[in-house]
Amino acid sequence: MTTAPETHGTGLGAIDRGGARVSVGDKAMINARADVNQLLPLKYRWAWDKYLAGCNNHWMPTEVSMQADIALWKSADGLTDDERLMVKRNLGFFATAESLVANNIVLAVYRQLTNPECRQYLLRQAFEEAVHTHTFQYICESLGLDEGELFNMYREVPSITEKDAWALKYTQNLEDPDFRTGTPEADQAFLRDLVAFYVIFEGMWFYTGFAQILSLGRRNKMVGVAEQYQYILRDESIHLNFGIDVINQIKLENPHLWSEGFQREVRTMLAEACELEVAYGRETMPRGVLGLNADLCERYMHFITDRRAEQIGLEPVFGGTENPFPWMSEMMDLNKEKNFFETRVIEYQSGGGLSWD
Ligand SMILES: [Fe+2]
Ligand SMILES: [Fe+2]
Repeated sequence: MTTAPETHGTGLGAIDRGGARVSVGDKAMINARADVNQLLPLKYRWAWDKYLAGCNNHWMPTEVSMQADIALWKSADGLTDDERLMVKRNLGFFATAESLVANNIVLAVYRQLTNPECRQYLLRQAFEEAVHTHTFQYICESLGLDEGELFNMYREVPSITEKDAWALKYTQNLEDPDFRTGTPEADQAFLRDLVAFYVIFEGMWFYTGFAQILSLGRRNKMVGVAEQYQYILRDESIHLNFGIDVINQIKLENPHLWSEGFQREVRTMLAEACELEVAYGRETMPRGVLGLNADLCERYMHFITDRRAEQIGLEPVFGGTENPFPWMSEMMDLNKEKNFFETRVIEYQSGGGLSWD
């Protein structure tokens, strides 16, 4: 059987033996004519820079000491019942969320993005999602949590199920193995998936969870988990910014896709997603904990929703919102060598410093 020459941008077609060399002008985010297997010449420097930034941020969860967290978790009065419930439902959301995000990158996004420097970043991101899933395995093991309870929460805690089911339908839209971009309808289906996962899942739904754990960390509780969440937050802010750049670049190259009707649709998606996140805040904090409650998280999510709308060039969904957690921005400026919680047990060593003889 012979395969058709590479014309659909997956990189899996037969090699075009007499093909001309790649010109930058032929490279495109979607529906590209240029050979997707040739990284150079680069067109999108921002994608390559994010790949380098991701590599520079390398970390592993097992490098963070869990001793203080284990002692606190096992002591009878270390945490209130409300704090324990919040931590468990928080971990329960992330434990499977990382896998849903990874599935979307690997099984849906990678195939449709026809640009090699963006694919290079996706490969890095996919590994980082594996590191994040590893983090929840490590926390579960360290604290002696019930594995079944934690990893099955996305089927047992209604507000988690609702969020995951909402996002999953956008991946499912791309599930048909014959799905390919190339018509306005298919290109918009792909854009919806990018919005659902990059802007909403990673850009909105992780943020109540980050605020909860980092707020505990600020009170010197669960400091190991809080440090791991800082590293995850740093990775996720690059994932989010990559997704936003991808969406904005696709808009620039295909302005007809970003119609008024489509913009309205995306703003509706953001509003729905915000509501789902507010419900999650209520289910994780039915009574609130010191310094944090569901009402504050709702205000925070309104602020985040408007910020995300602005980042993809849309009018605010709520308007006039303010950030009730200004301390969250300090949490994002993490210096790997000198971190906020200082629980690190080993120092990073770069490959260049090792001696092999
Ligand atoms: Fe992640
Ligand atoms: Fe991510």
